[in-house]
Amino acid sequence: MDRVLNVLKLMTDYNAPDIRRINHALKVYGFAGYIAYGENLSSYEMCIVQSAALLHDIGIHEAERIYNSAAGIYQEKLGPSSAKPILEKSGFNNDEIEKINYIIAHHHTYNIKDNKLLRIIIEADLIVNIDEGEFGNNADLEHIKNENFTTETGKKLFENIMFNK
Ligand SMILES: [Fe+2]
Repeated sequence: MDRVLNVLKLMTDYNAPDIRRINHALKVYGFAGYIAYGENLSSYEMCIVQSAALLHDIGIHEAERIYNSAAGIYQEKLGPSSAKPILEKSGFNNDEIEKINYIIAHHHTYNIKDNKLLRIIIEADLIVNIDEGEFGNNADLEHIKNENFTTETGKKLFENIMFNK
């Protein structure tokens, strides 16, 4: 079975019956795939990006259980240990798990600019978070774009979606 689809299945099972979080992961997965495709990533990199997208918020349940908070800092801290068994079951090796977990552990760390796969997840997550109302109705979209979008495909996608609202 395709490893990414395996992750998709296990992520859905892990989050069920929380449809809101499953939908969030699927949306980020979709936009991350769109950006990765536009940036001409290899199929190997695409596999890493799509798996990281599906699991980027996987630490949220443990964050809520342990810290009573879904704050980004706790998700980043607890995400990798929740993702690891899912990635192992899906057939990823240790090196690949390390790459995916690095992205999960830094997806709210917006100042890391030199990891393209991480940037793609940050960009896809920002688009979905804005649409889901995380930034309120008066978000400064121009500022968010200029500060956080580094890929050409992500910037264009953001403009197409956000500036026609
Ligand atoms: Fe997210």
